[in-house]
Amino acid sequence: MNFLLITTTCLLAICCTQIGAQDDYCFGKDTMRPQTRHFTSKTAYQIAKSTNMDKQYLVPGCTPQKIWILHRHGTRLPSKSIIQKAPRLEQLRDAIADNYRVKAELPDNALCNEDLIAIKMWKWNASITPDMENYLTGQGYEDLRGTAKTYQKYYPEVLVKDYSSDYYKFRHTDLQRTTESFKAFAEGLFGPNNAAKSDDIPEKDLLLRPYDYCQSWSSQNFKGAGSESAKFRNLPIWNQTMYDISRRLGFKYTLETEDIELMYDMCRYEQAWQVDRTSVWCAAFTADQVTVFEYEDDLKYYYKSGYGFEANSRLNCRAAQDMITHLGSNSMPNVVTYFGHSTGVQTLLNTLGIDKDEVPLLASNFNDQKDRKWATSRIDPFASNFLAVKYHCDAETVNKEKVIFFVNQDAVDLSWCKVGLCNWSDVLDRYSNLIDANCDSYYCGDGATAVSVSLGALLMTAIVYLINVM
Ligand SMILES: *[C@@H]1O[C@H](CO)[C@@H](O)[C@H](O)[C@H]1NC(C)=O
Ligand SMILES: *[C@@H]1O[C@H](CO)[C@@H](O)[C@H](O)[C@H]1NC(C)=O
Ligand SMILES: *[C@@H]1O[C@H](CO)[C@@H](O)[C@H](O)[C@H]1NC(C)=O
Repeated sequence: MNFLLITTTCLLAICCTQIGAQDDYCFGKDTMRPQTRHFTSKTAYQIAKSTNMDKQYLVPGCTPQKIWILHRHGTRLPSKSIIQKAPRLEQLRDAIADNYRVKAELPDNALCNEDLIAIKMWKWNASITPDMENYLTGQGYEDLRGTAKTYQKYYPEVLVKDYSSDYYKFRHTDLQRTTESFKAFAEGLFGPNNAAKSDDIPEKDLLLRPYDYCQSWSSQNFKGAGSESAKFRNLPIWNQTMYDISRRLGFKYTLETEDIELMYDMCRYEQAWQVDRTSVWCAAFTADQVTVFEYEDDLKYYYKSGYGFEANSRLNCRAAQDMITHLGSNSMPNVVTYFGHSTGVQTLLNTLGIDKDEVPLLASNFNDQKDRKWATSRIDPFASNFLAVKYHCDAETVNKEKVIFFVNQDAVDLSWCKVGLCNWSDVLDRYSNLIDANCDSYYCGDGATAVSVSLGALLMTAIVYLINVM
């Protein structure tokens, strides 16, 4: 009896010490979940949006008059190739469960039990089929209905609840996710069963998809061999990260990068689909590991649509001109809203000189770029949006016209504006090159401009080369 009691106590003690010793990081129990703020273009809008607008939208002595918005679609389903690869995740799930059977061989920073159980129970939602690729999700619809309601709350006198086709101009691209995003936004403004109409989509959508019609832009190397992102993937930090992730999941070898990226993508999508839950796959990545993936993706975007190549800043010439024309005009429409894509939003920010880093993003400067401005997790999450609000300020004697630019509900702090509030005359002055440009030749590296493109690209290559050599 005594013996039994002692044994039980001993067993209990061992068991409890083991539980006690298990202070492994638990994603499922982490209330902050810092990982989720760093998922680049697949970050949930609800996580990325700013709360600063509350203090920024009211300008004493000024009345808001016109609004111009470029809105990325909300949270969507993955591409066909990821949907097709999803069954592979069930194999990985089972392999991880197997790895964790032999406790003695687990690494020090093993998954906590809750995270492990969650991974073991994961199932792919088989009603998501390849024909639904890139569709807007329920959360994606809510993203846009939500931004419409938020902006209407701040600017009820501009974003009026009564729809009229003269007062409101809407247009989306020719895809399910932007069409639905438009409907969601209109529902947010006018309620269900509204009469809101979107303009016809031209066959060649140079306004919202200029990148589809620019060969020299498409051929820029932003992720292929020799690109900064490819170089980053060849650095020891990348290799080490792949090894660490594999090890933490109990593998004795480094998993294929494709498998790790599949887990990572599923984590990011699921987390965005259901913001208030946790994706079990996110448990596979520590916050530090996520920042490595984030930088690699930011490098891609920096060269695809950011400041990495000079030509990127001219691609969205038409949308920028459209904004300035509409805000500057005294006639209707008073509200213009476009529903487009990641590349559109990013190249517009680039055109306007927003979030430009002084030092370019390079494979070699990850550690110095922790506070980079070009952080797509912040500037281009799902449902990212650029909002320009034109004010009339009676209180002023000169420069009565002002504007504030917002990115994801945060006022853009341009150096020539006062805490985000810019004189309209300065806008016209600062962007005069753009305003005067003939977008037909300016937006893409054709004809005369082609010379300066290749020169610029050459110069950039030379600078990048020099920095690398140094
Ligand atoms: C599975 O996906 C479908 C289609 O997107 C969705 O309607 C449904 O809610 C999802 N089911 C679960 C359990 O998430
Ligand atoms: C990558 O890491 C593995 C395992 O740590 C190692 O064997 C291999 O040499 C590394 N490769 C490179 C290119 O650093
Ligand atoms: C805007 O115009 C006003 C009036 O001319 C001037 O005082 C101010 O310095 C200008 N610039 C900014 C950033 O407000």
